[in-house]
Amino acid sequence: MTRLLQFAAGLAFAAVATLPATVHATDSTDVIDYRKNVMKSLSAASAGLNAILQGKAPAENLVLQAETLRIIATTALIAFEPNVEGGDSKPEVWAKWADFSAKMKAFEAGTADLAKAAKEGGVAAAQGKVQAALTCKGCHDVYRVPKK
Ligand code: HEC
Repeated sequence: MTRLLQFAAGLAFAAVATLPATVHATDSTDVIDYRKNVMKSLSAASAGLNAILQGKAPAENLVLQAETLRIIATTALIAFEPNVEGGDSKPEVWAKWADFSAKMKAFEAGTADLAKAAKEGGVAAAQGKVQAALTCKGCHDVYRVPKK
């Protein structure tokens, strides 16, 4: 091995050796940060999609943008699974988990429906599905602490 290769191999080993064996989000701050990040991503993805549907952003991105929203939606439920009160979540998220998770799954299904419509029928078809899909406010009104 040349010196450079030995050096590179050493660096790679050092990087692997310092990684924890598994990554657990045991810290409650990590749990709250993660679900907030998922929500912020949903916000950005739905804003992008709305801009496309309003003709303010490139229609070429419609399918990818709708698919992005669908994928982020599928990450949301698991982000709320750890029963960690705090952030702007009301304790009812966990106290009424059956209802909360049903709402989240319905949201997921709605975004899947929207992505399918975008793929098959373009902007016009997506416009017909967007209102039914974006149930954000319906959940926030019940499960999120209102902004002061
Ligand atoms: C089934 C319930 C549910 C659905 C559906 C839902 N949210 Fe949320 N959202 C929450 C809860 C609960 C919080 C509070 C999270 C926390 O701070 O602990 C939240 C927080 C947020 C926040 C604030 C994040 C922060 O940084 O504090 C944004 C932005 C947001 N949601 C956007 C959206 C958008 C946009 C959609 C729809 C495209 C959506 N949400 C759908 C339950 C939901």
